[in-house]
Order: sequence, then C-alpha cells, then structure tokens
Amino acid sequence: MKIAVTSASGHLGSEIVKALLKATKKEQVIAIARTPEKAKHLGVEVRNGDYNNREDFNTALKGIDIVLLVSGMDDPQKRIQQHRNVIEAAKQNGVQKIVYTSIIGAEENNAFSPVVQSNRQTEEDIRNSGLQWVIGRNGIYIEPDLEYIDTYIKEDGIRNSADQGKCNYTSREELGYAYSKMLLEEKHNGNIYNLVGEAISQKELATYINQVYNTNLIYNSVSVETYKADRIAELGEFLGTIIAGIYEGIKNGANDVPSDYEKAAGRVHKSALKLIETYYLNHVKN
Ligand SMILES: NC(=O)c1ccc[n+]([C@@H]2O[C@H](COP(=O)([O-])OP(=O)(O)OC[C@H]3O[C@@H](n4cnc5c(N)ncnc54)[C@H](OP(=O)(O)O)[C@@H]3O)[C@@H](O)[C@H]2O)c1
Repeated sequence: MKIAVTSASGHLGSEIVKALLKATKKEQVIAIARTPEKAKHLGVEVRNGDYNNREDFNTALKGIDIVLLVSGMDDPQKRIQQHRNVIEAAKQNGVQKIVYTSIIGAEENNAFSPVVQSNRQTEEDIRNSGLQWVIGRNGIYIEPDLEYIDTYIKEDGIRNSADQGKCNYTSREELGYAYSKMLLEEKHNGNIYNLVGEAISQKELATYINQVYNTNLIYNSVSVETYKADRIAELGEFLGTIIAGIYEGIKNGANDVPSDYEKAAGRVHKSALKLIETYYLNHVKN
C-alpha cells in the first residue's frame, strides 16, 4: 500500500509524513511537493505536485492507493479548482481513498467565511468523488501564537478581537498523529471529524503562556473593526482580512465546537497547557 501526502514541504504535510513514518514503512510513504527540494529532508520518495497543475498529479499519483490532500493557501475561489485537480487525478489513477485537511469555522458572517466555504466545497467534491474518504476539520494551530511571543512581550500582552470567545486550539503535531490514523485505519472512512483540543479563552491562553514562558502577558480585547484595520496594516489586505475574520469567528463561538479528536486518533488530545509546554521544549528551550 502506498500513501502520498501533498504539500509535504509545509508544516502540516511534514508532520503527517513524520507521523506516518512512525506507523508504517518508509517505502509506503510518498511526499508530494510543489517545491520538491523542500521535502527532501523527510527522507522518503518525493514527487512533484503543484495544485495548479493537473498533469503534475496525474504523474505523482501513479501507483498511489491513498492520498492525503492538504488544503491550499491560495485565494479561496482558486483553491476549489486546485483541489479538484488532485481529486480528478486521484480518480483517474485508481487511488482508493482520499483524506482531506479541512477547517473549523463559520460558513457565513465573518471575513474568514469565504475560506471556510471553499473548504466546504472541497469536502463536497470529495464526498461526491466515488472514492473512500475521510475529512478532518482542523482547529486553529497554536504554533503561530507561540511564534509571535516576542511581539506579545513587546506589546505587553495579547491583543485581538476574540474577547470572551473560546477557541479549541490544536497543533500540527497533534493533527499529524490523527491524520496518520485516519489514513491507515479503515474504520474512519466516511467520517467528518472536528480535530480540535480543549476550548480556551484568550485570557486563559495568556495565563498558560505565562506559566510556561515565565512572562506577564495580559489579554487586551479590541473591537472587530479596530483589529481588522490593525491586521491589514501589518499583513496586507488578503492575509490581514483572513486573520481578523478568524478572531471575529472565535468571538462569535465558531471555534468552540465538540471534539472528535479521540475518535480519530484513538487517544485524547493534549491539553492547551501541554501543547504550549511541548512547543517550548521542542523550539525554545534547546
Ligand atoms: N488550522 C490553522 O490554524 C491553519 C492556519 C494556516 C493555514 N491553514 C491551512 O492549512 C494548510 C497547511 O498549513 P501549514 O501549516 O502546513 O502551512 P505552511 O507551512 O505555510 O505550508 C503551506 C504548504 O502549501 C504548499 N503550497 C502552496 N501553494 C501550493 C500549490 N499551488 N501547490 C502545491 N502546494 C502548495 C507550500 O508549498 P511550498 O513549500 O512550495 O511553498 C507548503 O508546502 C494551509 O495550506 C492552509 O490551507 C490552517
């Protein structure tokens, strides 16, 4: 059995490959990447695959039984066709099963909704593909917050528009583990799982970070409009709007959903504090 992981050069794709390597033989795992040299360090066969190029995937999916499709990064409307390029090539090449990394979030009413909608369209395309399928709806990664700590320290706190809203953070490592099970175990076929950890407020997030990093961060809530203007000024229109939309969604409860992680992974999700401790041990302490 051969399993291919797309966007394997990225953080999530590489965590999925690493988790698969702990559970199965190296010869069974193929990394597909738009920039193949960036996936070489994974130590598995690497094939070329740009979501914009259907032909890439006709070649990359030859002899593959199961494909893990990591959601793309492009404009939401463009992603739908990019994902279809992979789904169609999978069908053409006799791939038996497709596992897709989708997203938690509100389908309407905030600036992140177009991204969520495009993910839902790909979910539908996959459910209609005729292949076996499993869909994971990923929670928000905690890592970007932890990579941002120096800025939080400089600004004396975490500042966004989530207010009292709770967010069930996950990590790419936790997701990698769950996806390896969803790829290898047939019992997951036909399921949509919320791959999330415990739901915490931004105030709790600050408290846990302080505990692990020995910082004194406080949480400052700002209005949705203020935060959107702030993010667009720092990150540009496209990314700034998306990030602001994510926090607007958190404020309105879109990221406080029941977790299916244990069903998918066969073990409980790490607590939020444990996620932060793990990141600290792996990226900061040494
Ligand atoms: N849950 C969350 O909090 C969250 C946050 C951000 C994003 N996401 C979603 O989760 C996905 C994976 O996240 P990540 O952390 O792995 O992101 P990442 O580390 O930034 O990696 C993005 C990956 O997408 C690849 N890529 C971009 N355009 C492509 C194309 N046209 N064809 C094929 N591959 C392409 C990149 O390839 P190159 O190496 O060639 O650039 C890279 O491997 C993202 O793409 C996004 O849809 C989720």
